[in-house]
Amino acid sequence: MKYENEISKRRTFAIISHPDAGKTTLTEKFLLFGGAIQTAGAVKSNKIKKHATSDFMEIERQRGISVATSVMTFEYRGVLINLLDTPGHKDFAEDTYRTLTAVDSVVLVIDGVKGVEEQTRKLMEVCRMRDTPVIVFVNKMDRDGKNRFDLLEEIEKELRIQLHPMTWPINSGKDFKGVYNIDAHSLLLFSPNTKADADGLSINDLKDGLLDEKLGERDAAQLREDVELVEGVHGTLDVSAYLAGQVAPVFFGSAINNFGVKEMLDTFIRIAPSPVARETTLRQVDAQEDKFSGFIFKIHANLDPKHRDRIAFLRVCSGKFERNKYYHHVRLDKDVRFSNPYSFLAREKSVIEDAYSGDVVGLFDTGNFKIGDTLTEGDDFYFTGIPSFSPEIFKEVVNKDPMKTKQLEKGLLQLTDEGVAQLFTQFGGNKKIIGCVGELQFEVIQYRLLHEYGASVTFNAMPFYKACWLTSDQPAKLQDFMRFRQQNIAADKDDQPVYLAQSEWFLNTEISNNPEVQFHFTSEIQR
Ligand code: G4P
Repeated sequence: MKYENEISKRRTFAIISHPDAGKTTLTEKFLLFGGAIQTAGAVKSNKIKKHATSDFMEIERQRGISVATSVMTFEYRGVLINLLDTPGHKDFAEDTYRTLTAVDSVVLVIDGVKGVEEQTRKLMEVCRMRDTPVIVFVNKMDRDGKNRFDLLEEIEKELRIQLHPMTWPINSGKDFKGVYNIDAHSLLLFSPNTKADADGLSINDLKDGLLDEKLGERDAAQLREDVELVEGVHGTLDVSAYLAGQVAPVFFGSAINNFGVKEMLDTFIRIAPSPVARETTLRQVDAQEDKFSGFIFKIHANLDPKHRDRIAFLRVCSGKFERNKYYHHVRLDKDVRFSNPYSFLAREKSVIEDAYSGDVVGLFDTGNFKIGDTLTEGDDFYFTGIPSFSPEIFKEVVNKDPMKTKQLEKGLLQLTDEGVAQLFTQFGGNKKIIGCVGELQFEVIQYRLLHEYGASVTFNAMPFYKACWLTSDQPAKLQDFMRFRQQNIAADKDDQPVYLAQSEWFLNTEISNNPEVQFHFTSEIQR
């Protein structure tokens, strides 16, 4: 355990939310607290505009900028925080899902006015798969929101996680007076643009007259009633249940006003996990092990055809990564070294000499990496738990220039290695089907195939809604099913059989008619 000190002071996490709930604003406030930026508004420019059109070049340009902020590292009270950015645009949701495989915990932002939204649900499902610890921040308390008890009930029910309120709001909207910190027994009074270091007023107990003085009798009485109820139901926070992903501490606040953020950040550094052990194909790898290991969770390509370099993002999972040292690329079974590994301290990309478990390193890549690739100091294992999820839109690739078939195939393989889209080949035929989460990616693919590989394609919409990976312990039954349903069967790019369902009804029917065949909604990315 040579690196225990380095590793135990690290926290690697992501902020996730449905677009518009306040992720960018909260990220910015975190960076302000960490001293990584000096002015508000600095992060905004990296955000993909919500209404951004189908002008994907503009989006890619913006994504390009966001490479620099893909990982934001800052220190807060002696803790080294790696905040991994996730794209807000829903068409890039797969990127977000994969980034979640590289973090040890998340902060989930919920819009207090809108409550649980579609993207929130999906993101939580991904967190649940790995029991990722979650802290909830209910944002926009300065706006008239839902009744807080109803909201908590909605979150618990919809996200299937037990909540534990850490602060409690006093009204909302124009009557919003602040939050009461239940654990610390302190009252934080709301004022727009709260100073970063503002501390709450200490209260002896709920009977303290200071509450009446500051809030007025009616609101003080309501707060007493609410907090007694909350305390009665929830007691004190069970940190081990939080770490196991079973209980989520909840904070109320207003990110734009920097209100309630410090309370959360202080709790975050106290309870959020330092780098955790991870599963591999051989054994569990502990973050504290001396030998280095890590995996690639994201690849960002440069769209400029003159510079076809890519940046592969490596999450260090154990030991120490060093510049210019040879590491074992498990899939290719060869040793590789990196002379210019990047870190992303304070929004500046800079070459680093070393990195420790929990850190994210940017590696220049000329095509050696796929998502899920593992680097080690000699061990032959792969990190597991880096799945693909079913795409939502499926289209057949139509090659418009048969002379460029080879280039097209190469392009499709490389783009899918990067995780831009998933590629399926229809069973018994050669039809190539691309699956994506959003329409935008089809434009990205079309553009990149043409500009980077000289291959011109169009797409034909396919009537599928979901892909399920198939397994069975009775191979003959699986073969029968696949033969029988040929039109709906494809191989993913690692040759795993996949059932493409037209609708939920078809899918459910096949599931109940074929008990010997297992339908999986995610796949580990195979190598
Ligand atoms: P996102 O990254 O999750 O998509 O959300 P973002 O932070 O961009 O916030 C979405 C909108 O909500 C922004 O307004 C932002 O200013 C606003 N917002 C964030 N936190 C709060 C809050 O605590 N209270 C209120 N009332 N609003 C909040 P916008 O008009 O879309 O953008 P902008 O013009 O402010 O940049």
